[in-house]
Amino acid sequence: MLHCFRVTLAILLLAVSIKLSHAFQRNGHAKMKSAVFLSPKFVLGPGSVLDKYYYNIDFPRGHIALKSFNGEVVDEAGNSVPLHETYLHHWATVRYYQRRGATNPDYNGPLELDKSDHILVRNSGVCQKNSNGQYYGLGSETRGTATFVPDPYGIEVGNPADIPAGYEEGWLLNVHAIDTRGVEDKLGCTECRCDLYNVTKDQYDRPLRPDYKGGLSCCYDYTQCRLREGIESAERRGLYVRYTVKWLDWDEFIVPVKIYIFDVTDTWKRLENSTGQNAEHECHVEYEVKSCRASGMANNGCTDTKRVSLTMPTGGSVIYGVAHQHAGGTGSTLYGEGGRVICSSIPTYGEGNEAGNEAGYIVGMSSCYPRPGSVKINDGETLILESNYSSTQGHTGVMGLFYILVADELPKPSIHIPLSKSVNQVWERQ
Ligand SMILES: *[C@@H]1O[C@H](CO)[C@@H](O)[C@H](O)[C@H]1NC(C)=O
Ligand SMILES: *[C@@H]1O[C@H](CO)[C@@H](O)[C@H](O)[C@H]1NC(C)=O
Ligand SMILES: *[C@@H]1O[C@H](CO)[C@@H](O)[C@H](O)[C@H]1NC(C)=O
Repeated sequence: MLHCFRVTLAILLLAVSIKLSHAFQRNGHAKMKSAVFLSPKFVLGPGSVLDKYYYNIDFPRGHIALKSFNGEVVDEAGNSVPLHETYLHHWATVRYYQRRGATNPDYNGPLELDKSDHILVRNSGVCQKNSNGQYYGLGSETRGTATFVPDPYGIEVGNPADIPAGYEEGWLLNVHAIDTRGVEDKLGCTECRCDLYNVTKDQYDRPLRPDYKGGLSCCYDYTQCRLREGIESAERRGLYVRYTVKWLDWDEFIVPVKIYIFDVTDTWKRLENSTGQNAEHECHVEYEVKSCRASGMANNGCTDTKRVSLTMPTGGSVIYGVAHQHAGGTGSTLYGEGGRVICSSIPTYGEGNEAGNEAGYIVGMSSCYPRPGSVKINDGETLILESNYSSTQGHTGVMGLFYILVADELPKPSIHIPLSKSVNQVWERQ
């Protein structure tokens, strides 16, 4: 009897220790894989703009859990390039399936949803069609923003069961960068002010609306921002986006998370019997902040607050959250019903000259890592997204995106409970 009990206990302990060692290994990053890649080289001179879509970039392959993705602009010697020289408007990675044997798309633009050789695999929502469909995307804040997904969660990709027969998974990298060396107005160039680019048509040759003052339609690929008198636009240099991906080989202990991106410019309206589906959304990505003096609103403390009400199609536990704003941004919050805060994300501005700390630029956005299970969104819950900007001066082409990772299920208690403390410590280090 006693012997039998001991054996049972031993088996039990063995089982527990296998699970623990598995999880400890994970927390010790023993199994974490990491790789550093370079985008194709691009060449920029003073005032010039790059907006390229690089298809089939180097990326980890196979059935994996993405754990983090960090990118930055470097020169040909591998040195980090500061934002006041090359402003990184954004980079974004988009997942797709390509028919085996098909050639990479040869046009410089976003992937359409249903081309027969290429199938965009967008995130879980909520904007229309391919809009804000990226898996990761950041701008000037990229060097100072955590993208790490805490254990035991991960973004599942490359599952052979999901990839249609005859196709393989590919990744595209969109890079939008503006060389502001020698320009007349650095902030104006980074805010894509149309007058500085001397542009009257967008990249598709369509005339701009008369009231359109600035944004992506004025700073597309090959446009040129106005230089100071006497500056030569000849000093061109080669640059790359260097990106670091961390991942784990997929296993049963990893809990998948879904990616949702909300956009404060979304004009979605609740329709009767609305399902909150992508087709009902119209995300405009960018908006304009009017100067409080011009708009006679100086008595509101010169804060421009933009809000939108949206529906979460399918709820779950929030594992991570972060906002994306441009210079002038003062913070963004995602609220649930009853006004409870799901996540607040606040920008950090640089104070110096060196890469990662450039004065006047957003060099990081704070991110949220709620204790799993402590912040939940219900199916169909109404959310409010709020994005604040300082309006002491006007801004064009600003953004108010909110990116969250949501888990349907909580991890199996055998892994989660005994390790919650060390898991927390891991998050704090990230
Ligand atoms: C702006 O564009 C117009 C027409 O495209 C051109 O005639 C003019 O010289 C340009 N101005 C500058 C300052 O480049
Ligand atoms: C909404 O759903 C109700 C009940 O299912 C139905 O009677 C009504 O016609 C629907 N309205 C619309 C606009 O589809
Ligand atoms: C945004 O501004 C409003 C006031 O207009 C304020 O109540 C709110 O707390 C601000 N939110 C953030 C995230 O700064």
